[in-house]
Amino acid sequence: MIKVVLINGSPRKSRACNFLLEQAIQGIKSIAEDIIIEKIQITDYNITPCNGCDQCLRPPNDCPLAENDDTKKLENVVLDCDAMIIAAPNYFGSVSTQIKTFIDRSRPWKMKNYLLKDTILAPMAATGLRNGGEGVISDLINFGLIQGMIIVGNTLGSPVLEGNIAITSIQKYSLKEFLAKGESDELAGLIAKDTGKRVAELINKLKK
Ligand SMILES: Cc1cc2nc3c(=O)[nH]c(=O)nc-3n(C[C@H](O)[C@H](O)[C@H](O)COP(=O)(O)O)c2cc1C
Repeated sequence: MIKVVLINGSPRKSRACNFLLEQAIQGIKSIAEDIIIEKIQITDYNITPCNGCDQCLRPPNDCPLAENDDTKKLENVVLDCDAMIIAAPNYFGSVSTQIKTFIDRSRPWKMKNYLLKDTILAPMAATGLRNGGEGVISDLINFGLIQGMIIVGNTLGSPVLEGNIAITSIQKYSLKEFLAKGESDELAGLIAKDTGKRVAELINKLKK
C-alpha cells in the first residue's frame, strides 16, 4: 500500500501549516483515493534534542535517547512511507525547534545506510510576513538531500507569472495589510494542493 505522511511542524495544530497540509491532502486525493494518508502533529511526539554523543555513528547506530522518548513511535510512522510532506513555520527564518529536533534526531536513519533513501519529500512553509519562508524551505531541502530523499516542487500555472514554492503568509499586499480572521492565502493553498497532486503523481510514476 502506498503511504504519504504529512507532518505539521507547528506547535499550533490547526493554523497556517495545517492549512497547507489540508490543501495537499486534497491534491493527493484528486489523483488517488487509495493512498494511505497519515497526518501527524509533531508536538504530539516527545522528541529529546540531540546531545551530540555520536553513538549513532557506531553500529548498531541506535540513539540512546530513543529509549526514553517517542522517536521509535515516530519511526513506525515515517520509515515505511513513500512520501513525506512537511509544513514548518518560519521562526526567525528557520524551521521550528520541534522540526529541527526531528531533523537532528533523524541522523541514525542516515547512519543505518539511508533508511529514507528515495522517499519523496515535499517541503512547505508558513510565515507571518511575506519574506523568510525560503529559509524554512531551504532547511527542509537540506534535510531531504542529506537523507538521500527525492525533493518535489510544484508546477502550477504560468512558469513566468506564478509562484512555485508552497509558502503561505498572513501578509497581503502591503506592509499594513494582513489576512482577516478565517481568511487564507489562496495562492499558497493552490500551490500546496498542486504539490500534493504532484507527490501522488510521482509516486505512481515511480511504482510503475
Ligand atoms: C518564535 C517565533 C518566531 C517567528 N519569526 C518570524 C519571522 O522571523 N518572520 C515571520 O514572517 N514570521 C515569524 N513568525 C510568525 C510565524 O511564522 C507565523 O505565525 C506562522 O503562521 C506560524 O505557523 P502556524 O500558523 O502554522 O503556527 C514567528 C513566530 C514565532 C512564534
